[in-house]
Order: sequence, then structure tokens, then C-alpha cells
Amino acid sequence: MEFEIQKLLEDALERIRAVATESDLASLKTSLIGKKGRLTEYFTKLRELPAEERPAAGAILNRAKTEIEKALDEREKQLSEEKVSQSVRERAVDITLPGSMRRVGRLHPITQVTNEIIEIFLGLGFDVVGGPEIETDFFNFEALNIHADHPARDEQDSFYLGGTLLLRTHTSPVQIKVMRARGRPPVQIIALGRTFRRDAIDASHSPVFHQVEGLMVDSAITMGHLKAVLEHFAREMFGERTRMRFRPDFFPFTEPSAEVAISCVICGGQGCAVCKRTGWLEILGAGMVHPRVLENGGFDPRECTGFAFGMGIERIAMLKYSIDDIRLFYENDVRFLRQF
Ligand code: PHE
Repeated sequence: MEFEIQKLLEDALERIRAVATESDLASLKTSLIGKKGRLTEYFTKLRELPAEERPAAGAILNRAKTEIEKALDEREKQLSEEKVSQSVRERAVDITLPGSMRRVGRLHPITQVTNEIIEIFLGLGFDVVGGPEIETDFFNFEALNIHADHPARDEQDSFYLGGTLLLRTHTSPVQIKVMRARGRPPVQIIALGRTFRRDAIDASHSPVFHQVEGLMVDSAITMGHLKAVLEHFAREMFGERTRMRFRPDFFPFTEPSAEVAISCVICGGQGCAVCKRTGWLEILGAGMVHPRVLENGGFDPRECTGFAFGMGIERIAMLKYSIDDIRLFYENDVRFLRQF
């Protein structure tokens, strides 16, 4: 019997080690030391042994039982620890994975350039005023000395809304409105906003675009003031070394009028593809406010003079950031917008 118990013990220990789940271990435990377990049976058999053999056999049996119980306990502990660490592993966070990022938005490049323009002119003492996008024929054309037969009024260039209303083709009507609202000089304002023309869309034209208008009227404003203001603007916007070129031009609402160019921001004036080898980039139209326009604004042209200028904000942004297609501004492609 001693030999049998020894064999049972060895076999039991081996099986306990091999068990892989807690429920298998529980049934193994029952089959070994449960009521009808294999080891339990030996305790019954013990009673059948001659009295003098019982103590020795009993001692061996008890030792075997203790050892089996110990092995069962240990294995039980091991298995439950394994189970815990496995569930931790399954639920674990991989701290090496990149986090889920919330992308921060930013201002549209047109808005950014608009804000920069505002900053520069605020620094020179200009007020920022607004104006409606829908205008009357009178403010958009007539009061600006653009008469009925002027080609700029052609249906081809304008979005008429019926009657005398149209989407403004430039920000210049604000000139008249501000003078009328203020009643007398001095006036020193810029006006920024959307303007509309029936232009076919291409790399440099859009039927909706943005302009900034400038107007300064006082008792003795000269072309010198205009040049000083625009040169300051160009240096602030495009850098200290920017040079300016004024050439005669024509606008019905300014006299004299000028077409203003800056030295090429790409080549510095040497001549390149962007400036079409001229070294210059046209950026705006300007001039001394026509006496009739001052009158239409309710000002007396014998008592005051003024300058005005108008430029496209897209054009400024395109030159500043070397953008070669105006359509990029309106397509809402974040791959483009994210760069500014
Ligand atoms: N309104 C003109 C345009 O849209 C620009 C301009 C404004 C020219 C003011 C002279 C003075 O082309």
C-alpha cells in the first residue's frame, strides 16, 4: 500500500502541475481528495489493515494528503494570478500608440492678410469702416463719376439684382458713404470686404473677391501723403527693402490716377517668371480724389483734397505667400489652408 500511495502521489502532483484552468483543477481536486476521491478511498482501506500496520500507513497517507493539498493550493493561486495578469494585458493601454489628436483650426489666409492690413493702417491713424455688399447704381457708379455709358457698368462685368441694385463691383462706394456720413473733413478710413464681378474664373480671377479701400481727405492732402502711406504699407507687408513704382493710370473717380507696383517679392526686382521679367508687380490703383467725387460726398473741393486707393486682398495674399492660383482660397482644402 505504501508503494501504491507513493505512485498516486507522484501521479497527482504531475497532473496538478499540468492543469491549465481553474475548473479543471477543481475537478481534479474532487477526484483526488473529494468524498469519493482516489486518495480518500485509501483512508477507507486503512481500516481494513491489521492494527499494527495502521499507524505507519496512516502517517504516509496523511503526508501524501498534505502534499497534494499544498500542491493544489499553490496551483490554484498560480492560475488565478495568471488569469488576472492576462485580463490586465487584454485591457492594457498601449502607451506607445500615437494619441488621438484634436486639430486646432486657424484663420483663413484671406482673413489673416485682412487682419494684417487692418493692423498696418490702424497704426497710421486710419479708422476701419464697413459698407453693404449690395449697392445702388448711384453709389457704385454714378457718384464715383462713372457715367451711364461707361463700360464698367456693362451687364458683362456686374451682377444686377433688378432695378438699380447690384452687387458692388468695388469698395469705392464706401468713399461716398463715409464722406456723407461724416459731413466734413478730415476723413481717414479703410474699408474692407467682398466685391463681385462677372469674371470667368481662372488662376487669377474670381467672381467674388476682396478689396481694401483707402480714403484720406483733409485741408491739404497731396500725392506725397499717398506715396508715404502706401510705401509704409508695402514695407510693413512685404519687407523693409520693398520699393514702389507709380505710373500714370486712369480712374473716373481720381485725378491724377496712378497704377502702383512693388518691386518683385520673389526676385527683388531682377526679373523672374512671377513678375514676367519686369521686376515689378502691380498691386493697386490709386489717385487724388476727383473734385466731383468730393462734391458727391458733400465736401467742398475748394476747401479740401484727398487721396484714395483700392487693392485686391487675394492679390496681396498671393504675392505674400507665393500662391499661384486664386481658386485655392475658395476650395476649402485643408491641405492648402493648413499651411498658413
Ligand atoms: N476701385 C478701383 C478698382 O476696383 C480701385 C481704386 C480705388 C482706384 C480707389 C483708385 C482709387 O479697380
